[in-house]
Amino acid sequence: MPPFYFGVDYYPEQWPEERWAVDAQLMAEAGFNVVRLAEFAWAKLEPREGKFDFDWLDRAIAILAEREIRIVLGTPTASPPAWLMQPHPELFRVTQDGRRVTFGNRREYCPNQPLYHESTRRIVNALAAHYAAHPAVIGWQIDNEFGERCYCETCAHAFRNWLRARYESLDVLNEKWGTTFWSHTYGDWNEIPLPLSSGGSPNPGLALDYFRFVSDSYIAYQELQLDILREHCPQHFVTHNFMGFKYEGLNYFDLARQLDFVAWDNYPRTQWNMQAEVDPANAALAADTMRGLKQKNFWVMEQQAGSGGWDMVSVTPRPGELRLWAYQSIAHGADGILFFRWRSARYGAEEYWHGLLEHDATPGRRYQEIKRMGGEIQKVGNLLAGSQIKSTVALLYSYEARFAFQVQANNPRFNYADQFQQFYAALYHQRVPIDIIAPDGDLTPYRLVIAPALHIVPDDLAARLERFVYSGGTLVMTPRSGVKDEANAVVNQRLPGILAALSGVYVDEYDSLAPDMQNELEFTATDISSDHFVARIWCDILKPTAATVIARYTQDYYAGQPAITLNSYGTGRVLYIGTIGKDVLYETVVPWLLRQAGIRSILTAPRGVEITERWRDNRRILFVLNHNGHPESVPLDRSYHDLLDSGAILENKLVLAPRSVHILVEQS
Ligand code: GLA
Ligand code: ZN
Repeated sequence: MPPFYFGVDYYPEQWPEERWAVDAQLMAEAGFNVVRLAEFAWAKLEPREGKFDFDWLDRAIAILAEREIRIVLGTPTASPPAWLMQPHPELFRVTQDGRRVTFGNRREYCPNQPLYHESTRRIVNALAAHYAAHPAVIGWQIDNEFGERCYCETCAHAFRNWLRARYESLDVLNEKWGTTFWSHTYGDWNEIPLPLSSGGSPNPGLALDYFRFVSDSYIAYQELQLDILREHCPQHFVTHNFMGFKYEGLNYFDLARQLDFVAWDNYPRTQWNMQAEVDPANAALAADTMRGLKQKNFWVMEQQAGSGGWDMVSVTPRPGELRLWAYQSIAHGADGILFFRWRSARYGAEEYWHGLLEHDATPGRRYQEIKRMGGEIQKVGNLLAGSQIKSTVALLYSYEARFAFQVQANNPRFNYADQFQQFYAALYHQRVPIDIIAPDGDLTPYRLVIAPALHIVPDDLAARLERFVYSGGTLVMTPRSGVKDEANAVVNQRLPGILAALSGVYVDEYDSLAPDMQNELEFTATDISSDHFVARIWCDILKPTAATVIARYTQDYYAGQPAITLNSYGTGRVLYIGTIGKDVLYETVVPWLLRQAGIRSILTAPRGVEITERWRDNRRILFVLNHNGHPESVPLDRSYHDLLDSGAILENKLVLAPRSVHILVEQS
């Protein structure tokens, strides 16, 4: 079993060489055993085409290796050098409005350029060959945070080939996209345009296929690098740093498939999220999603180390928060944590993205906090690394749906991610382990599957959902499910289309509400609630064919009509929630669902206290995290050892200091 990896992202090239040994010393004192290097250093590694300079990196690695620190190398392709880009305008990405980006940022490249591919092969080959046998190097991060769609002519050409492979004939494409609409019929593959934003609304089939194509382009570009790394360094792991749940430009399930494990970047406090209090459910959802990409533990390649900002400075992480958030990542399945970044930069766009050390290298409060954690990880790391999370509840996550809603939002206030998050948060607040699964994921481990806005439902998914319910599972569906076929055309069926029989209900009519409109829900199933709830954004007016009515609308021309139904199918059930509520609706329905499905909370605790569990074989490891800025108390169901408190024995209750973390194992 590999050790627990705990470390930092380091940019020796940004600091005088005399400093490196001091940095390594401080890292070792903090208990770090891993450092990520070089992911933005292309211009220093290859200062001129084909002229490589790895000496400085060799020296930096040697200094770290002396301290027993292992190395993850980044391939530097997210920030290409000026000598490569400036003479070749075609290498620059084109944005959806048809404008080419210019040099002076990062992620400027188009993923489909042959010259960029060739240059990538050259630098990755050289790096991989040079470090393949280095005893300190353990793995690779490919590129950095893939993303950004390109709309250039090269991409248009590659898109047409991609379409040819998908549809084989233009007749099929014309039919699937319905190109008779507005005379879009294509007689030649080269007539197919890009879905530029300047042109108004493109055909939804074309637009969705373009998003799929861009996603596939980055995956192919990643594979180009992966093949080289696998060939030279079969003993090293290869990963990429993903952007959690919020990023929606790539199909992350696909991007993760060929990697050894997923790594991601976790920043609860940034300049784009200026709030006094951080909602811990957000990072929890991101972490569970990242674990779900491969149903496997992950690393956090960048864990927040200080205030996060570019032109503005975010709220400073409160004392205890950095450690708390890092443990939260572990509580959701991290087997490695690297803080971003070591020392706050004095130059560049990220001068205000604070590291563990201040700009002047002072190891202040943040360093001390993480150093304390480093000492703890040295004690508990081996128990944690590789331990598993087990869940009987899953949220089904569809990038296809998320892409399709980028093409047609359906309602100005409808947002797939928000609806998903509402369900996630309600489950999270019940303190049950939650898996996030792909549409082609295995449903058999689960008793409850929630599939928000499952817009596109391939036949085989419908069949698997049916089997899941038939054999006793509970499925939850919401508006805008089963609406589209795989070409993003509206199905020729009553909604929810292919899922109508399973749900025992059909959508007779729907109402897309204006921001100043709302309806109201009244439950007829009295074991759920006797309160009234707001219905907003979207109202499906339901007609049960087999289902029973659980709630009705109380307002407008559909007052008295069904809004929520429950169907029995085989030995399982389908709950169809035909509208979108405020959080309180989900906070009410989800506990009822969990009770019905016989799923219990790990422990009960006050709001703001997060509880998760990991399993080392049959040994349960409990994480208790107090996200609140005040003390809390959690009643215990048996006696535990508190591993972070020298194994102290706890009985009856656990008293939590503000923003504190406890790791408990049952007393044997
Ligand atoms: C991302 C990137 C890092 C850095 C941080 C902070 O996660 O991967 O290189 O830019 O954000 O902005
Ligand atoms: Zn392009």
